[in-house]
Amino acid sequence: MIVFEDVHFGFNSKKVIDGISFEAAFYEKIAVLGGSGEGKTTLLKLILGLLRPDRGRILIDGRDITTLKESELVEVRKNFSIVFQEGALFDSMTVKDNVAFCLREFTSLSEEEIQQRVRELLRRVGIEEAEDLMPEELSGGMQRRVAIARSLAACEPKMILYDEPTTGLDPLTADTICGLINELSSGDPPNRRGLIIVTHKVTDATKVAERFMYLRNGRIAFDGDLQALRATQDEELKRFINEIL
Ligand SMILES: Nc1ncnc2c1ncn2[C@@H]1O[C@H](COP(=O)(O)OP(=O)(O)OP(=O)(O)O)[C@@H](O)[C@H]1O
Ligand SMILES: [Mg+2]
Repeated sequence: MIVFEDVHFGFNSKKVIDGISFEAAFYEKIAVLGGSGEGKTTLLKLILGLLRPDRGRILIDGRDITTLKESELVEVRKNFSIVFQEGALFDSMTVKDNVAFCLREFTSLSEEEIQQRVRELLRRVGIEEAEDLMPEELSGGMQRRVAIARSLAACEPKMILYDEPTTGLDPLTADTICGLINELSSGDPPNRRGLIIVTHKVTDATKVAERFMYLRNGRIAFDGDLQALRATQDEELKRFINEIL
């Protein structure tokens, strides 16, 4: 369970998050919508304890992470994996090594076990044939798949955080990535892995999420299901979600 209690955060004097409160179970499928620079990536970093709030509390499974030491945060982060914006692969490593990186770094698996796990993960995201390629040789869609495989490598997270996983992809490739995201969170609540997808691509959000939050001016201007989203009377939000109305 993730709980935000009146969380405030700014970079130096610039206020980014201005009093956010919400509760979310790990099995939920949530889309965080909002324009560029509204604080979506910042919100994910706060959940992971990569940034600390200036004010307010963030509870993960009942533990207030705003007071934890870095070593304790490592435990809390095991609940999650994150697929960073633009994939963020290591340019100088093959696909295989990108996925193996965390396994080599953070587990005591043998090289043979690592190779096996990497192959299994690449098969799961549908790109086992690309294992020896370099990131620059991959299309954008393939890079996202590698990033997703890598995020799953080191742990079986309770929740996956995706930062703009379909941005910059053509509609068909974006659709395939949404399919993969759904596959990784399949099943019925509470017995499934949840997700938080941060995106400004509203159509993609509706393909994978059941709950929608809209960030504006550092606050949650909307929080509800698809039906409520479509029925919103907020003029700006209506323009933002125009493509699904
Ligand atoms: N490391 C940083 N130092 C200073 N300001 C930052 C830093 N990271 C982000 N910001 C600022 O914080 C605000 C929120 O940034 P954030 O990356 O969370 O936005 P976003 O909603 O993810 O935008 P986008 O849709 O473009 O990815 C922006 O105004 C940005 O300029
Ligand atoms: Mg962002």
